[in-house]
Amino acid sequence: MMSEIPFFFLVILVVVLVNSVCLADDTLTPQQPLLDADGTTLLDAGNRFELGFFTSNDSSYRYVGIWFYNILPRTVVWVANRRSPLPDLSGRLSLITNGTLLLTSDNSTTVFWSSSDGSAPLRNPVARLLDNGNFVVGEEAEPNGYVAWQSYDHPTDTILPGMRFGRSMTSGLNLNLTAWTSLSDPTPGDYVMGINMDGVPEEFIWQGKRPRWRSGPWNGLYLSGSPEMVSENLVRYNFTVASQQFIYTYTIRDNSLLAKLTLIPSGEIQLRIWVEDSQQWTGRRDPMDSCEFISACGLNAICILNGSPMCKCLTGFKPKNSTNWDILRDWSGGCVRKTHLDCRNRTDGFFNQSNLKLPQTSSAVMRASLTLAECSRLCLNDCNCTAYASANVNGSGCILWTSDLTDIRFFFDGMGQDLYVRLAAADLIAESRPSNRRRIGVIVAVTLASSFLLSCAAASIWRWKTKKSFVGEETEEKNLDLPLFELDTIVNATDNFSIGNKRGEGGFGPVYEGRLSEGQEIAVKRLSTTSSQGVNEFKNEVQLIAKLQHRNLVRLLGCCVEAGERMLIYEYLSNGSLDKFLFDEVKSGQLNWKLRYNIIVGIARGLLYLHHDSRFIIIHRDLKASNILLDKDMNPKISDFGMARIFDGDENATKTKRIVGTYGYMSPEYIKNGKFSIKSDIFSFGVLILEIISGKKNTEFIAFDQHLNLLDYVSMEIVET
Ligand SMILES: *[C@@H]1O[C@H](CO)[C@@H](O)[C@H](O)[C@H]1NC(C)=O
Ligand SMILES: *[C@@H]1O[C@H](CO)[C@@H](O)[C@H](O)[C@H]1NC(C)=O
Ligand SMILES: *[C@@H]1O[C@H](CO)[C@@H](O)[C@H](O)[C@H]1NC(C)=O
Ligand SMILES: *[C@@H]1O[C@H](CO)[C@@H](O)[C@H](O)[C@H]1NC(C)=O
Ligand SMILES: *[C@@H]1O[C@H](CO)[C@@H](O)[C@H](O)[C@H]1NC(C)=O
Ligand SMILES: *[C@@H]1O[C@H](CO)[C@@H](O)[C@H](O)[C@H]1NC(C)=O
Ligand SMILES: *[C@@H]1O[C@H](CO)[C@@H](O)[C@H](O)[C@H]1NC(C)=O
Ligand SMILES: *[C@@H]1O[C@H](CO)[C@@H](O)[C@H](O)[C@H]1NC(C)=O
Ligand SMILES: *[C@@H]1O[C@H](CO)[C@@H](O)[C@H](O)[C@H]1NC(C)=O
Ligand SMILES: *[C@@H]1O[C@H](CO)[C@@H](O)[C@H](O)[C@H]1NC(C)=O
Repeated sequence: MMSEIPFFFLVILVVVLVNSVCLADDTLTPQQPLLDADGTTLLDAGNRFELGFFTSNDSSYRYVGIWFYNILPRTVVWVANRRSPLPDLSGRLSLITNGTLLLTSDNSTTVFWSSSDGSAPLRNPVARLLDNGNFVVGEEAEPNGYVAWQSYDHPTDTILPGMRFGRSMTSGLNLNLTAWTSLSDPTPGDYVMGINMDGVPEEFIWQGKRPRWRSGPWNGLYLSGSPEMVSENLVRYNFTVASQQFIYTYTIRDNSLLAKLTLIPSGEIQLRIWVEDSQQWTGRRDPMDSCEFISACGLNAICILNGSPMCKCLTGFKPKNSTNWDILRDWSGGCVRKTHLDCRNRTDGFFNQSNLKLPQTSSAVMRASLTLAECSRLCLNDCNCTAYASANVNGSGCILWTSDLTDIRFFFDGMGQDLYVRLAAADLIAESRPSNRRRIGVIVAVTLASSFLLSCAAASIWRWKTKKSFVGEETEEKNLDLPLFELDTIVNATDNFSIGNKRGEGGFGPVYEGRLSEGQEIAVKRLSTTSSQGVNEFKNEVQLIAKLQHRNLVRLLGCCVEAGERMLIYEYLSNGSLDKFLFDEVKSGQLNWKLRYNIIVGIARGLLYLHHDSRFIIIHRDLKASNILLDKDMNPKISDFGMARIFDGDENATKTKRIVGTYGYMSPEYIKNGKFSIKSDIFSFGVLILEIISGKKNTEFIAFDQHLNLLDYVSMEIVET
């Protein structure tokens, strides 16, 4: 008797064990639902994926989902009830006898999720988790045959290797991904990825209704916007693209590796492959940079990553509003043709613009049977046709555009495709001039060759002497090693001082942007010929700045005195002046505290150099936000020394009869008595700090309907507290 009791318990134990092993199975049957309270899950035969209940981080809500079995932290690839989570552990996932999956709660009659999608009822249904992560419902009798429902047809935010994604008008397939709200909240978020079938199909990411990114059309080798797909040799894509469909799958070359392509909560597509236990490889990630957002540069423009400026008009086009484009760096207005097309006279032609992501194709058409030459003729004969390109990298087929061209980007390293843009004859001739043709490809600013600087410096000493009547005796004595530029060089660099190159109007004349033939970008300050007063200030500025070298002072590259022209050539600072950021509702958002702090410190360094560390004590006398320029890394540089004075040695204030400067920045004693010293600059600097911190213009700040400017307001607050 005594020996039979343990045996009895052993039998029970074995039965219990066998039962629980059965539950950790890959199938769900009508007899055996999955209960959250039991903590059981389904595991595929290859031990790659697990299906069960999980909790999101933010709450106690329970979801049914599929995740990688072996990967920590848990990485969920599919969620059933992302819109209606269960409040507690009472969840029950069951397969009812007609073949529908039903997610209910033991505590209520609510159906939280169901797989019903109108398919025919099954007789002996079974649901199985396959080793590719697909959860499939079918007839038990034919496990690999008829599929009534599968999770692959209802993706959440992830495409798994081997899964079909896309859209087809012929079969009615229409899949999309919706990102999670956050990394820990599966609720559908703002971002949706799917296929836009208008015109030539492309993959899109939308934020709500707004398109955010597009893939570019498939060109037989890669998506036009992702040439890097070619070199991702761990991954193989299989696209099936026609005018009515855009479907793809991808596989990993080593199919033992786990991988997923996910629309992550920040609205980006991310491909991750788990190469070894803890090592991950991240591939295609779109949108990947600021040029990938629709449409970073407006109509008929090209986005150049890290370009200065970032947006360029297509060849043959000019900014629609050059104030907005060149000075405010507001690209939204886009570009327009320099010369109207002249289709009837048949004088139009095409300009071959290379290394591009093809423009948005929503209103384009594909002609799969045409060659590129046939396409060219077709486009030329259709007065609505604005551009064409090869549809396939092997040269077959073409795409024709009949609208403005949008969302184009430039690729470096010879990647990207050729776009043939229709231009009027006049613009084609202008662009075929060799000097201009070179400029198309030159995007990276080339720094001035030092040899050029040296030879120029030698020449300048002599030439400065010959111009002494203008520059003055003082400069003659101090060897000015400042390059002299030929007038021709500056005329070429600024397109003959074209309006399009004009960047503003300073106190002494207009300022132009230009590009030397070496590629370096310059700012040219052209002294207006009518201003007699300007001559002195010009002299002053040349004398001063030529002697100053500091990272927080704008650098003078040289000057040009020829044919009655007097010009200063400065380094070009791509971000323009501080006031354009500080007082602009949109752009001020880019100035976080760290940046503002850095700008203040930079200005302080520049001032310290002027007041103490340079060979002379220099008082700027017109320190203000519009005289602080920002380089591409937002480093501040003090500019505009037209009013600066070299201070005569000791610290005492000097008096002047002519009060110069800008209202709002001048110290009271300067306005009253014309007294100035380095303290006048410090006063202006103080006003500038208040403006940088508050984002308000000193003179435009109005507090509580009182007639107080920012400065008055701040001093009142200090007195009161
Ligand atoms: C719901 O059911 C679970 C067990 O299935 C139980 O633990 C829980 O207390 C119930 N909740 C409510 C609100 O009745
Ligand atoms: C199965 O039954 C459920 C609940 O009765 C119903 O909602 C669903 O439409 C049925 N499915 C099929 C395929 O008949
Ligand atoms: C995504 O697909 C779902 C299910 O087919 C559909 O209801 C939804 O409208 C789609 N969303 C978009 C933005 O196409
Ligand atoms: C979830 O919570 C754990 C522990 O609190 C934390 O380590 C992890 O980063 C969180 N995950 C997410 C996605 O928030
Ligand atoms: C180019 O590729 C397309 C599709 O990939 C194919 O249909 C066509 O036959 C190819 N043409 C040539 C000339 O190889
Ligand atoms: C690509 O997909 C199509 C359709 O799904 C299929 O017929 C073809 O065999 C696949 N090609 C490769 C190389 O896997
Ligand atoms: C350009 O835009 C600016 C600012 O929006 C506006 O003031 C100006 O009138 C516009 N110029 C032209 C030529 O449309
Ligand atoms: C085009 O033809 C019209 C007359 O049909 C003529 O007036 C015009 O000058 C021509 N334009 C060019 C660029 O030849
Ligand atoms: C367009 O330019 C690219 C790159 O320079 C060149 O490879 C291609 O052959 C050109 N196309 C034509 C039709 O000349
Ligand atoms: C050109 O566009 C106009 C206006 O959109 C349209 O009426 C006309 O039919 C088009 N012509 C051709 C040849 O497609």
